[in-house]
Amino acid sequence: MKHHPIFQKANIWQRDLINRAVVAPMSRVSATADGLTTDEMVDYYSAFANGGFAVIITEGIYTDIYGSQSYNNQPAIINADQRRSWAKVTRAVHRSPSLIFAQLMHGGALSQCSENTLAPSALQPVGTKAVAYGGEGSFPVPKEMDLTDIQRMQQGFIDSAINAHKAGFDGIEIHGANGYLLDQFLTPELNLRKDRYGGTIENRFRVIAEIIADIKSSVPSNFIVGLRVSEGKVNNLTYRWADGIETARELAKEIKKSQPDFVHVAVQTGEWERDSFFGEGISLASVIRDTTGVPVIANGGFHHLDKAETALNNNHADLLSIGRAALADSHWVVKTLNGLPLIPFHRDMLWPEATLSHTRKIIKELNLENN
Ligand SMILES: Cc1cc2nc3c(=O)[nH]c(=O)nc-3n(C[C@H](O)[C@H](O)[C@H](O)COP(=O)(O)O)c2cc1C
Repeated sequence: MKHHPIFQKANIWQRDLINRAVVAPMSRVSATADGLTTDEMVDYYSAFANGGFAVIITEGIYTDIYGSQSYNNQPAIINADQRRSWAKVTRAVHRSPSLIFAQLMHGGALSQCSENTLAPSALQPVGTKAVAYGGEGSFPVPKEMDLTDIQRMQQGFIDSAINAHKAGFDGIEIHGANGYLLDQFLTPELNLRKDRYGGTIENRFRVIAEIIADIKSSVPSNFIVGLRVSEGKVNNLTYRWADGIETARELAKEIKKSQPDFVHVAVQTGEWERDSFFGEGISLASVIRDTTGVPVIANGGFHHLDKAETALNNNHADLLSIGRAALADSHWVVKTLNGLPLIPFHRDMLWPEATLSHTRKIIKELNLENN
């Protein structure tokens, strides 16, 4: 097992990485009502570091008080108390040789906890809110953001990135995936704007390009600034672009111009081949990697080691992120390397709530540790 490509060392961002396994961002509804991290969250994140992951990406963290919050008990990184609470997490993680990135997120029209949502256009999202994240019923029609809303939202990302740097994070990931606000700007069916933020892909990407540029000019150059993208959306899991590979190529060109330090390509369903290939051997990850030359993290079911091997050996990605399997067993890396039994993922771990304490309770109740 130690020869599997996911367990090989890497040197990326001029950092020595102990392997190519990354914890995917996962929202856990376990912060305080004021957006502070808790001791339980310090233990949760440091367990991934002890468990051998090279990089940990946090759950989506909200970035401003004007409508970015996606659900109650979501952590934020807006004020000094929130920043100090995250510093406890980064200090604990850095006792091991792992890097930790803060995922910065604006929920946009898909907020579970607000009835006054914001979006590029006033279009009611399809689907219903998620009970496990405290939501109920259909999404409201969002307000179309004016230029003041857009500027305030961008400033939230920039200030949060500066706070993340101060809190000891190694970098940030801008959440441009899964149907949330920045992905709403990117998606032609959800962005009907006639101004410089709508229309062509260059215009639809502009809001992200400006955020990347402003963050990069506000933090030291060794602070890692990445971007997560996807086709699928949490409320429309198998959404694909109408002109697939063409959009992928055009998006990759825009990403290249803005030069993030990495691109994380999400496949929320976990079905990497089914939901992210444009044809034999060409995935969204490989199009972005080939076009941009930027390190790519691919995602979507890579706890299946045969898939992981294909993705790395066939140059789809440099690193692979693992979601549900890491959630079930924070020691996925060391246990897999040593052939030890894993705690298997079980959907009840996230049902009826996605909290950390509920997952622990289910592991005990179903005796999953001794399976
Ligand atoms: C409980 C849970 C919470 C998630 N929260 C986030 C999130 O906050 N941000 C994000 O970009 N993706 C989120 N995701 C998606 C994962 O990052 C990942 O794309 C998905 O689990 C597929 O990867 P996997 O097959 O390795 O599980 C979440 C997934 C799960 C299971």
